[in-house]
Amino acid sequence: MPQPFITLIDGSKIPQIGLGTYQAAADRTAKMVETALGIGYRHIDTAMIYRNEAGVGDGLRASGVPREDVYITTKLWNTDQGGEAARTAFNTSLDLLKLDYVDLYLIHWPVPARDLYVESWETLIQLRDEGLARAIGVSNFMPDQIDRLIETTGVVPAVNQIECHPAFQQLSARAENARRKVAVQSWSPLGQGELLGNTVLRTLAEKHDRTVAQIILRWHVQNDLIVIPKTVNEDRMRENLDILAFTLDTDDLAKIATLDDPEGRMGPDPLTFE
Ligand SMILES: NC(=O)c1ccc[n+]([C@@H]2O[C@H](COP(=O)([O-])OP(=O)(O)OC[C@H]3O[C@@H](n4cnc5c(N)ncnc54)[C@H](OP(=O)(O)O)[C@@H]3O)[C@@H](O)[C@H]2O)c1
Repeated sequence: MPQPFITLIDGSKIPQIGLGTYQAAADRTAKMVETALGIGYRHIDTAMIYRNEAGVGDGLRASGVPREDVYITTKLWNTDQGGEAARTAFNTSLDLLKLDYVDLYLIHWPVPARDLYVESWETLIQLRDEGLARAIGVSNFMPDQIDRLIETTGVVPAVNQIECHPAFQQLSARAENARRKVAVQSWSPLGQGELLGNTVLRTLAEKHDRTVAQIILRWHVQNDLIVIPKTVNEDRMRENLDILAFTLDTDDLAKIATLDDPEGRMGPDPLTFE
């Protein structure tokens, strides 16, 4: 089945299902990425802080899949924010990936305490204009921080990658991003694996003869979210990609809505994280 794409505000397209690589060991990442691309993944999410960009690039080349057919995202780490510092960090990422460009470059966290995200954004705009980052966006940004970027530069981030899963559904953040035409990517879409034993989701899995992971990922896709589940396991990679041949109905979606918990955040709070 052909993979779905989401069209971003800049007119570019991103594959809606990708592979996350956080906590993928550096020496295993190349094989992981090669395997995923062999199965049919066309979107890989990495970051400078994951220390596995070199493996992502090596896996891409080992796969034999043409560069232009694969969507690669990487991210600017917190301590590299600033004007020149952001450019230096970006160049390091490109060197590690051994690529001429990335498809998407994100500011990983806003780090309001340092207040360098506007300067960083100005550098990302230059990188985009130079063709080195085909699209640019942010991660873990609040609506007012996005507004500040837009007011200062006139450039709307193409995506905002935020924590989102059935236990932390981010309804307000999703609506605010949609209002600004910022596409939302869900990080930790499976709740870091912790939601896989949930009884409501297990009932839905039985009903559809699918796994819990597939029910959760289908929920993201039906909500127009871009998902990047991470797994190093080939069978799970296949499972996580195979979510297009069934549909959750209104009743299923209502059941998943009951799992939302304002306290359900599993990762750091973007307002304080440095
Ligand atoms: N922007 C940000 O600040 C930020 C923060 C966190 C994460 N991210 C990105 O989002 C990606 C995904 O988030 P995440 O890695 O935190 O969590 P996740 O994708 O929600 O969950 C990953 C966990 O679930 C397990 N898993 C995956 N598929 C499974 C399946 N079908 N059945 C059973 N277990 C399964 C994995 O184990 P195995 O590997 O052993 O299969 C792993 O332990 C990251 O890799 C990273 O690229 C971004």
